[in-house]
Amino acid sequence: MNVNRRVQTLDEFTIQQLRDFPQATGELSHLLRNIGLAGKRVHVEVNKAGLVDILGDAGTINVQGEEVKKLDVYANDQFTRVLQHGIACAGIASEELDDFVPFDDAKSVKSKYVCLFDPLDGSSNIDVNVSIGTIFSIYRRVTPIGTVVTKEDFLQPGNQQVAAGYIVYGSSTMLVYATRRGVNGFTLDPSIGEWTLSHPDIKCPEQGKIYSVNHGNFFQYDKAVQDYIATCQKKDKETGGPYTQRYIGSMVSDVHRNLIKGGIFMYPGTTDKPKGKLRLLYECNPFAFIVTVAGGKATNGKIRILDVEPTELHQRSPFFVGSKLMMEELETYLN
Ligand code: AHG
Ligand code: MN
Ligand code: MN
Repeated sequence: MNVNRRVQTLDEFTIQQLRDFPQATGELSHLLRNIGLAGKRVHVEVNKAGLVDILGDAGTINVQGEEVKKLDVYANDQFTRVLQHGIACAGIASEELDDFVPFDDAKSVKSKYVCLFDPLDGSSNIDVNVSIGTIFSIYRRVTPIGTVVTKEDFLQPGNQQVAAGYIVYGSSTMLVYATRRGVNGFTLDPSIGEWTLSHPDIKCPEQGKIYSVNHGNFFQYDKAVQDYIATCQKKDKETGGPYTQRYIGSMVSDVHRNLIKGGIFMYPGTTDKPKGKLRLLYECNPFAFIVTVAGGKATNGKIRILDVEPTELHQRSPFFVGSKLMMEELETYLN
């Protein structure tokens, strides 16, 4: 029998990385494995979304006052439960839950990490068969091991992230995660249910040709943002402009594409919503971390997203993220 052993699984990869750190306990690998497990369960449901009665509204409104879809609820439950039953997570915070959830059982209080997530990103795209995703952010707790986690464990600036990642449920399902050592992408082989390393050591091209923004809000953006968008539309030999506009409305898919191909994604503040729409802790910070490790940049328009000191679990932030040179060009307008 000819067994293909060129394939490296997520577990093999994370354990191999650990070998360089003799003091490591393996908890982070375990946590990533559990995120992968919850992701596989969501993948299964996403793929039959058109077949079963899982479409449509759950009939409830979340803390943000938004409609909750059944798949949002399902994904939130999966990630929460899988992490609660694992041995590496001391508590979670989620877009779908008003407050953080400390895991106060004897096993969990001894765990090192907390995890914040957006269980289903781009949920307005569920009903129309367009790619959606999950976003996660992992911190080492700041309170002592053996105690129940508190809010300060969750309100850490993004520069303290130990790891961050996302899952995109697209034409294939992919899990991409970053640690300070690099960004790696794993494609789910649905025939065997394994995450397999398909995109090792992802680097974001310094210059791309794509800009992603909601043009419908154009007249609500600051002049600086409007001027930058106009620049994206101009012919420019040096930058390769005019850029191509691409906006899916699932940030996971939009930023994933721009990370691989090079590009810039923007969700600026508007006159109606000066802080924009995206949530700092489980939408902006994880992507800021991933793209920065891959060589790109992320800002809220004033400072690096990763250096923002959070004050609330669900706080929003303007968000600009992408290829280094494109971000530097944008910054000349914002400053
Ligand atoms: P969520 O589904 O978790 O609420 O997030 C949707 C977000 C993000 O994925 C996307 O980029 C943005 O909303 C789109 O918003 P607009 O429709 O306002 O452009
Ligand atoms: Mn989201
Ligand atoms: Mn969401």
